[in-house]
Amino acid sequence: MERRRLGKDGQALPVIGFGAWPIGGGMGEVDERAAIRTLHHALDSGVTLIDTAEAYRTSEDVIGRALSEWPGKREDVFLATKVRGADLSRAHVMEATENSLRALRTGYVDLLQAHSWDAQHPIDETMRAFDDLVRAGKVRYIGVSNFSAQQMAAAWATRPFHSLQPRYNLLDRQIEAEILPYCERRGIGVLAHSPLAKGLLTGKYDPDHRFPAEDERSRMPRFQGEEYRRQLATAARQQAWAQERGHTLVELAIAWVLAHPAMTVCLCGAKSPEQVDEHVRAAGWRLTPAERDEVSRLSER
Ligand SMILES: NC(=O)c1ccc[n+]([C@@H]2O[C@H](COP(=O)([O-])OP(=O)(O)OC[C@H]3O[C@@H](n4cnc5c(N)ncnc54)[C@H](OP(=O)(O)O)[C@@H]3O)[C@@H](O)[C@H]2O)c1
Repeated sequence: MERRRLGKDGQALPVIGFGAWPIGGGMGEVDERAAIRTLHHALDSGVTLIDTAEAYRTSEDVIGRALSEWPGKREDVFLATKVRGADLSRAHVMEATENSLRALRTGYVDLLQAHSWDAQHPIDETMRAFDDLVRAGKVRYIGVSNFSAQQMAAAWATRPFHSLQPRYNLLDRQIEAEILPYCERRGIGVLAHSPLAKGLLTGKYDPDHRFPAEDERSRMPRFQGEEYRRQLATAARQQAWAQERGHTLVELAIAWVLAHPAMTVCLCGAKSPEQVDEHVRAAGWRLTPAERDEVSRLSER
């Protein structure tokens, strides 16, 4: 699989990362053995970057168990986790990191990210705590998630960091105006989250589909009523474009994200080995800039 460098001088990473929110149960129940099988299949397929978080329910535990049963080496896996944005105080950063290390059954994480901006604690307190964790050898790289360009600038003033993790997909393009140009200027790596718009860009749902109560989508406005219908209609145009070229909508959604010049990694959520296989196939499809523009215009109508 193609690899891209994280930021200016970070490690080269596979362009597809395993998004581990679904295997924590946040998008409907996933049996633990099925989750471990899926993760092992991803690792064996070259998807060796795993993205999880303190806030992802059982996700870190399941990953820890899966890694302890995987015959490969720890150094062959790039583990990214996050401290929840609701409390980025030094005390919480330290405590959350220790909890993550214990759950993941490892002595270090490769990338520690601030999950979102915390208005209650000064960002330099957070960045200094992150820096101390790097010095202690418990963290290799640091990054932020869901930050605006202004928030990144405030963090950068305390300490440079390697990555941003923003939402980015064919239906959510708000970061194109300011945030992605900022990352390109600074040389900050970008790990896109929710590339399939949480299933809207899979082509398998119809407007009458109802998600179970334990699935976050049952509470999201974009999965209800007229809004849901409108999003699915846009996705249907993109699906037709992909199918005319012998590809699936999932492959197009991922290839389109990866064709942005600022992009480092596309973090794809998966619940089965078959879903992982489709993500891996997508990494082999390179859209030209003209093709990418054409697909972008389909979501602007
Ligand atoms: N930093 C943040 O605030 C933040 C927020 C969200 C996500 N993330 C990260 O980004 C990762 C990806 O986002 P996400 O998992 O929320 O959403 P996503 O990748 O947009 O969608 C994942 C869901 O789409 C469906 N799917 C995936 N591959 C498929 C395929 N090949 N065919 C058909 N359906 C498929 C699966 O659900 P069904 O089969 O049930 O439809 C899967 O759970 C997360 O796991 C997490 O690591 C970060």
